[in-house]
Amino acid sequence: MILEYEDYQFVGAASGQEALDAVRRERPDIALLDIKMPGMDGMEVLRRLRAVDESLPVVMISGHGNTATAVEAIKAGAIDFLDKPLSSERVIVTLRNVLRQSELSSENRDLKVAMESRYELVGQSPALRNVLEAVTRAAPTNATVLLLGESGVGKELVARTIHRNSPRAAQRFVQVNCAAIPEELIESELFGHEKGSFTGATEKQVGKFEQADRGTIFLDEVGDMSPKTQAKVLRVLQEQEVERLGSARTIKVDVRVIAATNKDLEEAIARGEFREDLFFRLNVIPIVVPPLRERREDIPRLVQHFAKRTAEEHNLKPKRFDPTALDALQRYRWRGNIRELRNAVERLLIMTPSESVRVDDLPAEIRAGEPARAIADPEVVARAAESPATGAGTLREFKDASERAYLVQKLRENNWNISRTAELIDTPRSNLYKKLEQYGIKQEVDG
Ligand SMILES: Nc1ncnc2c1ncn2[C@@H]1O[C@H](COP(=O)(O)OP(=O)(O)OP(=O)(O)O)[C@@H](O)[C@H]1O
Ligand SMILES: [Mg+2]
Repeated sequence: MILEYEDYQFVGAASGQEALDAVRRERPDIALLDIKMPGMDGMEVLRRLRAVDESLPVVMISGHGNTATAVEAIKAGAIDFLDKPLSSERVIVTLRNVLRQSELSSENRDLKVAMESRYELVGQSPALRNVLEAVTRAAPTNATVLLLGESGVGKELVARTIHRNSPRAAQRFVQVNCAAIPEELIESELFGHEKGSFTGATEKQVGKFEQADRGTIFLDEVGDMSPKTQAKVLRVLQEQEVERLGSARTIKVDVRVIAATNKDLEEAIARGEFREDLFFRLNVIPIVVPPLRERREDIPRLVQHFAKRTAEEHNLKPKRFDPTALDALQRYRWRGNIRELRNAVERLLIMTPSESVRVDDLPAEIRAGEPARAIADPEVVARAAESPATGAGTLREFKDASERAYLVQKLRENNWNISRTAELIDTPRSNLYKKLEQYGIKQEVDG
């Protein structure tokens, strides 16, 4: 009567067995369960209900003076209990709280799933597999990890993946961007301060190391710390304790450290900008995250991944990337690595009016690296053969461009007969196939 008066839908069950059937049939949002019942008692029903649906919140109704059983029920998974005789107010308040709580936890589950996909490491290239293997080995330990790699390759993502797969996953992952915090604030950020310890310290602040206690601290851009900060960080790593600024008290912390940098630390040491002893502290397990140009195989998957995410985030219709577009994206020199690729995909998804993204929709500079055109246009091939230096930044790129242009030229001369070409340029056929694959060279279609 109480429930119906409040506009809840209510299904009654006269025994434990009836209750189990009703739950299976009705899938209720909440169950109210008496403890003392004929036949199967409430505790037994509770256990069986948990087996049917673990997330169903069960509120026990305990008779007067039966608190011990009620406590036992909570241990067995009941969410709350109500004392007899039932007061209508207590019933309604309890119900509201429980429903709100289970709404929150299902929301939480959804968010977690969404977050997981946000932090998914996409890719299957050998280069990325090496990284993942190192992550798998390092994650379960407390060892300090040093992530090295260019800007935008995914160092932060790798750091989060290590934390998520570590025994500390339920604790905090605290990120500190050492490059973004002004010199005069970084110590108080890292170690905290007491109220009044310096001008402007109007409130006490808990430092990042303390926040990360029992969890993981991610020292991003660690190569950008000043010598003074480096010395202090070194101390924390050695002693596993911090001192807030303006306090003589030391606080024990248990933190796992992951550091990242896009700088060459050994060079920085040589220049006297980075402490060698700190480097050795951090460099326990170095993991190099390779740039995108060393794992171009991952690009189609990454494009799909970012296209899907962008569509979800911006409420857009998903778009297909046609093979020629993917090809060009794969060939392009992504100086900003995955971050740049991701931005490009996002832009394409938002700005392309048609349902699929074709090579013509790509910005000119990306299109320029597109192979089919270069092959189809003899002039372009000839020009590249003459001066492959155009557009090549590094020596490596120059060599690749020259080799590619040379191969295309020879293949044309031999009418795309691979065996003959291989013989003529004196290389094993298998090697030529490998090169074709590597440079994405495809036979041009006449006409
Ligand atoms: N393998 C991957 N799969 C999916 N997304 C990735 C992958 N690697 C990187 N990303 C995405 O690319 C972007 C850049 O990655 P991240 O911030 O981790 O790079 P970073 O190495 O820390 O760069 P920086 O040195 O500039 O700070 C992020 O949005 C990240 O989610
Ligand atoms: Mg980063």
